[in-house]
Amino acid sequence: MAQKDFVLTVEDLTVSFDGFKAVDGLNLYIDQNEVRVVIGPNGAGKTTVLDLISGKTRATSGTIKFKGLELTQMSEHMIVRAGIGRKFQTPSIYENLTTYENLEVSFPRGRSVFGAIAFKCTSEVDERIRQIADEVFLSDMLHQTAELLSHGQKQWLEIGMLLMQDPELMLLDEPVAGMSVSEREKTAELLGRVAKNRSVVVIEHDMEFVKNIAHRVTVLHQGKVLADGSMESVQANPKVIEVYLGH
Ligand SMILES: Nc1ncnc2c1ncn2[C@@H]1O[C@H](COP(=O)(O)OP(=O)(O)OP(=O)(O)O)[C@@H](O)[C@H]1O
Ligand SMILES: [Mg+2]
Repeated sequence: MAQKDFVLTVEDLTVSFDGFKAVDGLNLYIDQNEVRVVIGPNGAGKTTVLDLISGKTRATSGTIKFKGLELTQMSEHMIVRAGIGRKFQTPSIYENLTTYENLEVSFPRGRSVFGAIAFKCTSEVDERIRQIADEVFLSDMLHQTAELLSHGQKQWLEIGMLLMQDPELMLLDEPVAGMSVSEREKTAELLGRVAKNRSVVVIEHDMEFVKNIAHRVTVLHQGKVLADGSMESVQANPKVIEVYLGH
């Protein structure tokens, strides 16, 4: 198929764990500046899709192209360098470091397209940390040890750590799990903002939140795409109601 300007093109993607296909012939096309939400019942293969894109799990077959670059043979760390940032289902931050330090260690040092070591002066890094902290509602928490942050604030910190790398594609696994209603609203606003200059793929179960943020929704079921389209079309789809939304 001819490549439109998709940021991410996933075709015929399959992964088999001892004969069990957790992802089975998946196609996914993500546009620039798109917020795509992936929903589906537990065990549908949602997290596994992010594992495959981010190189944590190797595909059994199929292709994953990021701006034309084939990812299926690349290491996790090369994929990060290529411009894909991934947030896990449970926050993985450094509990003993402050908010500031967590953001600081996430600054991509020694990375440049030309392979040269890119030294950044301290004030430039400092400015970026403060700007990102502001974006993720943590300006007042900069010198707080991360373990003392609320669960929602930890989720924001992890998003901030991803933003430090300025990825072109952000993959978020259940970013509002455990958040209060007001934290969810703020997160929706945050994702709308960050998608202005990147694409975001979000796995989520909270339908109110999905409705708030999704440009397009993909429903996964047994490793396959069950439905794909606007929130309205997906919500009205009898197959989706049967396997997921009806429960
Ligand atoms: N490394 C692995 N080895 C074997 N089986 C796996 C592996 N990773 C995932 N699975 C299986 O693949 C299926 C899909 O799991 P996955 O975690 O992708 O589901 P999910 O859609 O993210 O579910 P949830 O909504 O509960 O997070 C599950 O049956 C899971 O047990
Ligand atoms: Mg999951």
